[in-house]
Amino acid sequence: MKLNIALLAGDGIGPEVIDQAVKVSNAIAKKYNHEINWTPALTGAAAIDAVGEPYPDETHEVCKAADAVLFGAIGHPRFDNDPSAKVRPEQGLLKMRQKLGLFANVRPTFTFPSLIDKSPLKRERIEGTDLVILRELTGGVYFGERGRKDDGNTAFDTMTYTRHEIQRLAKKGFELAMTRSKKLCCVDKANVLESSRLWRETVQAMEKDYPEVEVSYEFVDAVAMRLVQWPSSYDVIITENLFGDILTDEASVISGSMGLMPSASVGEEASLYEPIHGSYPQAAGKDIANPLATVLSAAIMFEDFGLTEEAQEIRNVVNKSLAEGIVTEDLAEGGKAYKTSEVGDWLASNI
Ligand code: IPM
Ligand code: MN
Repeated sequence: MKLNIALLAGDGIGPEVIDQAVKVSNAIAKKYNHEINWTPALTGAAAIDAVGEPYPDETHEVCKAADAVLFGAIGHPRFDNDPSAKVRPEQGLLKMRQKLGLFANVRPTFTFPSLIDKSPLKRERIEGTDLVILRELTGGVYFGERGRKDDGNTAFDTMTYTRHEIQRLAKKGFELAMTRSKKLCCVDKANVLESSRLWRETVQAMEKDYPEVEVSYEFVDAVAMRLVQWPSSYDVIITENLFGDILTDEASVISGSMGLMPSASVGEEASLYEPIHGSYPQAAGKDIANPLATVLSAAIMFEDFGLTEEAQEIRNVVNKSLAEGIVTEDLAEGGKAYKTSEVGDWLASNI
């Protein structure tokens, strides 16, 4: 297979972790006779520095023309405490999601047998956890009307959803549930929010099209609690943008390190693969960040191309590296800490 991949390394540790995913993907391509053409493009603070814009038009063209986008991380501390900054790296991410139509963010949470005791939760609570949160990504309060009134003394952000936006996300949720344990949980705040009531009504109306899927409806506050009490009781969760943002960060620590969890953002046309962690600026340039979330994101990318054997090989070699202690400092716990690049080299040479 011939694959054209846009490579958006972004900020902080982005370039370092992306390098390892490229090494691993190239090793897979070599072994299975695929050809990958990587096209780098600018995004985030790096793009602001170069062209004054976090998601330049040239980058959008590269992404549109590619079969998929592999993305590192975005964000720089110099913007974080400056409320007056007009251009922010994160705006690039939001613009990219919107312009590429990436309406569904797929964030799995699973445990690694060799890391189970590194989780902040007790082993018996998390064993068997294998869930996917499908977060709506181009609607809700992230993209609703916002502003100030009353001479700047009142601020507002609006959460808006259309039936169509809910349906297309829920459809992905039902379809995903059908390939898994046929359990779907719709997470909302329908006891308070009108937009949540539309979510519930819309998903309820779709139930008849998927008679085998058992659907439950839960409030987001209760889910926040149950996710740390019994994460293994969930399978596929669908939810709106902001609830999904919060719940996916919560879920990401279950596995033991935030540096482990991959994600995919998909739409009708484009798809993007990225680690769920941020740009970790303190570690930038030090060759210490954990590259596995990005490597595992590349595995989802291969899977989405229908290359399941290739995806599985990546997952196997990652498991092998963890079992053999070829890990970066976040997982080393007094043992030898390998460099980001060493982990990447090891993975590539074990494929
Ligand atoms: C994420 C991030 C982004 C979001 C930020 C950086 C805008 O937290 O991908 O989850 O809130 O969506
Ligand atoms: Mn987030």
